[in-house]
Amino acid sequence: MANSSQSKLINLFDYETAAREKLDAMVDVYLASGAADETTLRRNRECFDRILLKPRVLTDVSCIDTRVDLFGQTLDHPILLAPCAYHKVFHPEGEIATAQGAAQSGAILVASTFSTVSLEEMAKCGARLWFQLYVNPDRSFTRELIARAEEAGYQALCLTVDTPTLGSRDRERRSGFALPEGMERANLKQLGTRATRAQHHKEGGAYNILDPSLTWDAIEEMRAWTKLPIVLKGILSPEDGRLAVEQGASGIIVSNHGGRNLDTAPATIEALPIVAEAVGGRIPVLMDGGIRRGTDIVKAIALGANAVMIGRPYMWGLALEGADGVARVVQILRRELEIAMQLLGSASLQLITREVLWKASNRT
Ligand code: FNR
Ligand code: LAC
Repeated sequence: MANSSQSKLINLFDYETAAREKLDAMVDVYLASGAADETTLRRNRECFDRILLKPRVLTDVSCIDTRVDLFGQTLDHPILLAPCAYHKVFHPEGEIATAQGAAQSGAILVASTFSTVSLEEMAKCGARLWFQLYVNPDRSFTRELIARAEEAGYQALCLTVDTPTLGSRDRERRSGFALPEGMERANLKQLGTRATRAQHHKEGGAYNILDPSLTWDAIEEMRAWTKLPIVLKGILSPEDGRLAVEQGASGIIVSNHGGRNLDTAPATIEALPIVAEAVGGRIPVLMDGGIRRGTDIVKAIALGANAVMIGRPYMWGLALEGADGVARVVQILRRELEIAMQLLGSASLQLITREVLWKASNRT
């Protein structure tokens, strides 16, 4: 199946079109939609398209190096899989297929707290994993969850800080999206069915699984619980970028949750250079939101990112082709990145600076 469809699936937008045709309408809405009027969701893409690149020639691009060092490890390429909830809704093998696809393509998978397969099961698939943490009001449970992830071999903790509550997901609510019978938040079993089955879009549904009282003190608290690097996901302001460094975060991810939380927040590619400047190279800065092309990765790196994450695109791959689809999506993007680097005259990621952008007005 993969082979016959692959010939038609040339880029990530092809995956989007094909996946959307295949997916149940309610599931399609859950994946595709953003918050409220979806202004931020649209802007994530529009702002990438507005930035122009400046190619340089005759620089020997016979050997392209996409490697990047992150938290003491060398990755073959700077594309990570962002945490997304509920993979079994998209493919019967769920996060097992995703983890296999990540392993095939050398991409780190940031596994969501809200996975439909337990974090331990995922860890058996040979992928490099980070664990995305939603802090639960029950701190002893949260501490145990972190310990489980560390024990299972996860290499970093991605603490999502932009979700004291979920955004106004109007389209999602209208669609009636709910976890189907037989699927649950597998990591939360100890908390009982109120947590494993709660329908988060409903009023108060997330109440017992997300803790809105979280503050910066949480980082220090977690530092005492784990040796893993703690990466904060969902930073959009320079103030918070600076605070993240001061409070001891190991890294940050500039993210607006794929336009799903606060509508009319800026596109992440707009916020990135401002946040990166505040961080000043003291800790790694990742970004996500709207990455669909190799040239988008180049733009993110030029504006201060060390690496990027993709969310919806690998879910399209998962929905269409399971593990192979996840791997294909990463491979397509990586190949596009290599082509862009060759055509720009930048043979390594370190050579991608603001100089590759066309002019000041394009620096967002
Ligand atoms: C997400 N995202 C998300 N983030 C997180 O920290 N924990 C989670 O469980 C989820 N779940 C989730 C589900 C779905 C269906 C989507 C689309 C997104 C946000 C995700 O990690 C990431 O920030 C965005 O998806 C990046 O934007 P793109 O690549 O989808 O445009
Ligand atoms: C979402 C949550 C689960 O974006 O993070 O759907």
